[in-house]
Amino acid sequence: MNRERVRILVVDDEEIVRESLSGWLERDGYTVATAQDGASALARLHGERWSIMLVDMKMPGMDGLQVLEEARKIQPEVTAVIMTAYATVDTAVTAMKLGAYDYLVKPFDPEELSLMIQKIVSQQALVRENVLLRKVLKREYHFRDLVSKNAAMQKVFDLARTAARSNSTILVLGESGTGKEVVARAIHAESPRAVGPFVAVSCAALTETLLESELFGHERGAFTGAVARQRGKFEAAHRGTLFLDEIGDITPKLQLDLLRVLEDRRFTRVGGTEAIEVDVRIIAATNRDLQRAVAEGAFREDLFYRLNVIPIHLPPLRDRKEDVPLLIDDLLEKLSVEMGRHIEGVSHDAMAVLMAHDWPGNVRELRNALERAAVVAAGTIIQAGDLGLVKPSTPTEAAAEQLGTLESVERQHIQTVLEHTRGNITQAARILDIDRVTLYNKIKKYRLREIESA
Ligand SMILES: Nc1ncnc2c1ncn2[C@@H]1O[C@H](COP(=O)(O)OP(=O)(O)OP(=O)(O)O)[C@@H](O)[C@H]1O
Ligand SMILES: [Mg+2]
Repeated sequence: MNRERVRILVVDDEEIVRESLSGWLERDGYTVATAQDGASALARLHGERWSIMLVDMKMPGMDGLQVLEEARKIQPEVTAVIMTAYATVDTAVTAMKLGAYDYLVKPFDPEELSLMIQKIVSQQALVRENVLLRKVLKREYHFRDLVSKNAAMQKVFDLARTAARSNSTILVLGESGTGKEVVARAIHAESPRAVGPFVAVSCAALTETLLESELFGHERGAFTGAVARQRGKFEAAHRGTLFLDEIGDITPKLQLDLLRVLEDRRFTRVGGTEAIEVDVRIIAATNRDLQRAVAEGAFREDLFYRLNVIPIHLPPLRDRKEDVPLLIDDLLEKLSVEMGRHIEGVSHDAMAVLMAHDWPGNVRELRNALERAAVVAAGTIIQAGDLGLVKPSTPTEAAAEQLGTLESVERQHIQTVLEHTRGNITQAARILDIDRVTLYNKIKKYRLREIESA
């Protein structure tokens, strides 16, 4: 570590202290500045970055502890050392509570000072290294908004990164909630088209005619209600990416239309004759087994091959359970921001439930489960009970009979209370919140006196 880059601010009202300290520290190679009171020290904290602060405890005006308190608000990462002539335990403890690293007792031993500063500097370097390492690790498991440490998903990330640089059509396959749209957006964001638009169309949401005009646009008067010319999503996505979601659901006619656009890169608006050329990168997605649809004749084989230039398969969450803890961290971080409520994590028991679950709805289901749990959680940690994932087993009739009738439960409860009050009826009646006569009658009915005295 280059010592010059270690910047130390010495705050003391006595000139002799300021001079001797800065002299020693400069001789050790550090960059040193001095301030003669709290106010000017804080002013320097506002404008410049510091590594270490040495602050005198007793100063006129603001004392050392007040300076520390304020300093933490301005530059919390500065390591502070308190200097005092009277090393009482009290002041030391207070200083530590305020975040001081240590304290030095006057008169100073230059050797001790030198060692302490060296220790602080190497600790700060360690912290920086850790932060850096964590960032690198995080990046390793990240691709834009996606997190995963699963091997198959790492391949997906690699493939997506490479595919982003090309202009080829991409087909994203995977069950519902596996992150197909997130992948599509990530690819767009990593591609040279990132400055252009990302336009998403859900092909399953519209009827054939509506989807046709949604994609290609229409001319005025093309159909009833077409009062004006309307541009379609293909035009809107010019120089960007068009995301065709749920492509497996489109009708044979649209399959053919789409095939033509993919082949010619040009199309006409509904009711129009003018050929429109667009520069669009297509990413399609589906949770259907397209190959099977092709085999069954439900999906055009030629279109399938046009789309399937770069296939990306997203594995279901149940096949990458090692991602569950990672996803929980990531999703809770995002949910905390969205909900304006800090949720730190999940309890050990809750984690066990989450790991055991099969996740038919994949990451979306996990996200929803966490969001629900975050709403009902009493504290900042989600408990197993908050999740509502463990389905209560419906008791069989035999088991239900074992649960006991209302009368047997009442009898047992009255007996427990009577044991607790050692037979005191008045007290028991108060606990049970019934009057004494009622209690007497119940005792007679259940013959509790006999049991009690037995
Ligand atoms: N690897 C991941 N890391 C973080 N969040 C993810 C990941 N995968 C999915 N998600 C989140 O899960 C949710 C569902 O993702 P997305 O909408 O992309 O799924 P989908 O595959 O398109 O689902 P569907 O087929 O139902 O449309 C989103 O909230 C998304 O942010
Ligand atoms: Mg989707």
